[in-house]
Formats: sequence, C-alpha cells, structure tokens
Amino acid sequence: MKKLLWVILLFCSHTAVAQQTIPHLQQKSGATQLMVDGEPYLILGGELGNSTASDLDYLKSQSTWSKVTAMNLNTVLVSVYWELIEKKEGQFSFSLLDGIIHQAREHDMKLVLLWFGSWKNSVSSYVPGWVKKNQERFPRVEDNKGRHYEMLTPFSKNNLKADKKAFVKLMKHLKKVDGEKHTVIMVQVENEVGTTPMTRDYSPKANIAFNNPVPAELINYMQKHKKELVPVLYKAWKKQGFKTSGNWEEVFGEGSYTDHIFMAWYYGRYMNKIAKAGKKIYSLPMYVNAALYRPGEQLGKDYASGAPLPEVMDVWKAAAPAIDFLSPDIYLPNFKKWCELYTRQGNPLFIPEHHLNNSTATKAFYTFGHYNGIGFSPFSIESTNRPKEEPLGKAYNIISQLSHLISKYRPQGKVDGVLFNRYNWYGMKYRNDSTVVKMGEYKFIFKHDYTLGWLPEADEKDWPSTGAIIIQTGPNTFFIGGTGVVVTFDVIGSDTKKAGILRVDEGKFVNGEWQPGRRMNGDQTNQGRFVRIPVHDYDIQRVELYQY
Ligand code: DGJ
Repeated sequence: MKKLLWVILLFCSHTAVAQQTIPHLQQKSGATQLMVDGEPYLILGGELGNSTASDLDYLKSQSTWSKVTAMNLNTVLVSVYWELIEKKEGQFSFSLLDGIIHQAREHDMKLVLLWFGSWKNSVSSYVPGWVKKNQERFPRVEDNKGRHYEMLTPFSKNNLKADKKAFVKLMKHLKKVDGEKHTVIMVQVENEVGTTPMTRDYSPKANIAFNNPVPAELINYMQKHKKELVPVLYKAWKKQGFKTSGNWEEVFGEGSYTDHIFMAWYYGRYMNKIAKAGKKIYSLPMYVNAALYRPGEQLGKDYASGAPLPEVMDVWKAAAPAIDFLSPDIYLPNFKKWCELYTRQGNPLFIPEHHLNNSTATKAFYTFGHYNGIGFSPFSIESTNRPKEEPLGKAYNIISQLSHLISKYRPQGKVDGVLFNRYNWYGMKYRNDSTVVKMGEYKFIFKHDYTLGWLPEADEKDWPSTGAIIIQTGPNTFFIGGTGVVVTFDVIGSDTKKAGILRVDEGKFVNGEWQPGRRMNGDQTNQGRFVRIPVHDYDIQRVELYQY
C-alpha cells in the first residue's frame, strides 16, 4: 500500500514538473512574460508566407532557415493546414508537421503554429475537401437573401466538432513529439476570422441566435467589468439603459455595431471551445489575430465583423477565456494607435504580422521597450533577398543582447522604448520627433537623430523611422540600444541640479556579460552634451550619469 502511494506521489510530482515547464504566460507586477523552459522569452519572430510550409523540400530550398538565422530570429510562425492533416475524414497525418519541427530544431528555432482550420482571413479555404463538399453537414454563412459564402458558419455544432477533433489530434501529437523539447511555444487559433461582406451571418441558426436573449455569461462579464469596458461598448449598452436581459438589439441597440458584438461572441465561443479542448491535452498559450482597418472604412464591407478587434475586445474576453490574448496584424501606418488599443484590458502585446519594410525594425524596439511586448513577427519573412543587411536583423541582434535585462527590469517598470516615424494617414503627415522618458531621478529627452540639424541627409523629405529601448539597471546607470536617436538628460524636479555624463561606453553583451568597446566622448557625445546613435547604426551604449 505504501509503495503504491509512493508511486502515485512520484507520478503526480513528475506530471506537475512537466506541466510547469510547458511554455506558459506569467504575470509579474503587471507585465506578462512568456516563459519557455523556465525563463522569460521574447519572440524575435517572423511569419512564413502561407504556402511555404506546405512542402518540406520547398521550405528547405528557399534558404528559409539560413535567412531567419541571419536575421537573428529565434522563432518562426508557421501554418498548419487542416486540409493537409486530415485529407480523409478521421485519417490524420502529421508527417509535414514533424518535418517542420525537425528542420526548426536543426536550426535552433522555436515555432509558433498557426492553426488554419475553419477560417483563414474569414474564408474557409483550408478546410478539407470532404468538409467543403458537404454543405448540408457543414453549413455556411448566408446573407439575408439566402446566398451562401465560402465560410463555415460559427453557429454549426458539426463545424465546431470537426475542427475541434482535428485540433485536439494536433495537440495530442504535439504533446507526444514536442512535450519535452518545447520547440513549439505557442499556437494561434484560426487566422483573421470574421464575417464579410455582411455585418452578420443570416443562416437559419444565426437568425435564431440573434433573436434569442444575450447569453448571461456576457451580461455577467459586462456587469463585473462595467467600469473598464471599451468606451464604444459601454456607450451602446448605456444607451439601452444597461439592460441585463433581452435580445441583442434590445441590449445593444439596432445597427451594425450590434452585429459586430453578436458575431464576436459566437466566433469567440467557437474558438474558445477549440482552444479549451486543445489546452486540456497540451496547454500551450493560445491567441487569436485580427485584420485591421483604416479610419472611415466600413464594417463588413471593408473589414470583418466579429473579428477580435479592439472595439469588441471585451466580448472576446468574455466569450473566450481559453484564448490568452488578442493580436493585431499591422499593415497600416498608425502603429502606435493599434498598440495602444491592443494593450487595453491588460491584453499582452504580440504582433504576429507586420509589413516587412524600412520602418519595421524600429517598431520592434517600440513593441518590446514601450509595451512590454511578448513578441514581434513580420510577415513573409523568407521573402527578403538581403537577410544579412535587413535592418530587422540588426534590431533583433540588439534586442536579443538586451533580452535578459528587458525581462529582469520590465516588472520593475524600468524599461521603455521610443519610436520616431512619419507616415501618411489619409494625406496627413504625422511628426513625432521628440519623446520624454522618465526613469529614476532622470528625465531623458529622446529625439530623432536628424533633429540635430547639421547632417546633410536631414534635408531629405522623408526621414527614416528610428527608435530605441532604454533600461535602467542602477540609480545612475542605463543601457540604450537602438538606431537614429539623440538623447539629452535632466534631473527631475530640480532647477539647480543638472545631469551630466560620467561616462558612456559603446559595447555588446556576450553570453549576458557586458563587454565595453569604444569610450564615447568628444564629438560622439558633443563634448558631454548628449548620447547619440546615428541613423543607420544599430548600437548599444551604457550610460552612466551624475548630478552637478
Ligand atoms: C494577413 C493574413 O493573416 C496572412 O495569412 C496573409 O494572407 C497576409 N494577410 C497577406 O498580406
């Protein structure tokens, strides 16, 4: 009997340890960190083009792995296609996934899997042929004239059951082949879901649900979080007198925003069930992503209704507690705005897709520095033809050197980031060439390098995007890593005391140890007046200040 107890205890503790080391999210003083093998992990990522990982030879032949290695990525986002893992109903093959994991391991890369199941960009193009062809069993979204769309309806139990079954098989397989090594660190459930071109599904089951009472779970959530609800949801509910029962139009009013809420709830429920079932087997962090929109664009027509967008964030949080966070795919210019919106309600920031262009690298600094980001990942990463020169690789090199400090000082609020970018937003030029960061006793005034005014290139019309991360490691000691910034300093709250440079060293971290290089003085600091990382340089400088 004693022996049996001992075996049970041993088994339980072993399972607990294994459970603990599964990649997971950890909250520490308001900062959410992704933990991989017991250590905080920043995803320096890139997403592969949609079809790249559908053939192992192709994947290898595109120099994919040497490119991502040259760009200092530590993680690749890769699609897993339902149509290829369950070509025949009930017959599963994971050889493609096994091959991808094998290739990733050979190159010391981690993976985030993108589950292309019921939906990819609203459409059900990745469901297996046997699902596509049997529309009786797997019903579609309909418009108000009864026309069908190539989109599975989220109101069908059969659709959910089939997707869930395949996803659970996937997670079982993953646990078996990767439960120890943790090459796969996170899973995206579906891809950019939402209804288009209508603002809601009009299939028979959707119509019934629309006239049914708003589920109590959503009402309860709204009551509990009333003070923090996103303003547009709060206003819609308030306008209806904060009703706690009634159908969707009674509780939220008539109009397309109510359709958005309604669809968000049902996509959220569907994906929650998938994530929950998958996590029950193997509880990796899981998230959803959304396609964004420009000001003035129309719901349904220009962007998908029910998508995990900021204005329905509360609805998603209520509907899908098994989904750890919502993520923006940023292809639009207003980067800061979207980051602000996606960090409301304590949502950790992970950017699974971004244009790979000249401004991308500096946005990585901002994501990790200013928003405590979990990760950053430009799309179609293998499409670059200049992996060694790609600015993103230079930025990732800096972030990766600083990552241990970022993770350590983040929970203490001693990490920040700046971004200087100019862009067109419907013809309007935005400028932000100066940002103040306060840390400890000091105020840092960061400016774009070209504000110095004495650089001939500064006359160019379009200044390159620049940015940096700053970390405070001691009362007077700071590390600044980035590109194209000039930094001056002040002592906070004093008219008489000034901040001066005790010393500035350029350098690098090797295996976490700081190795100083050039002593930066003379012209490099304008005789002690500033710290500067010129445009086109990617650098880390250790800055020690004093007061006089
Ligand atoms: C966003 C999608 O999520 C990606 O899979 C890809 O289709 C890109 N758009 C293409 O720009």
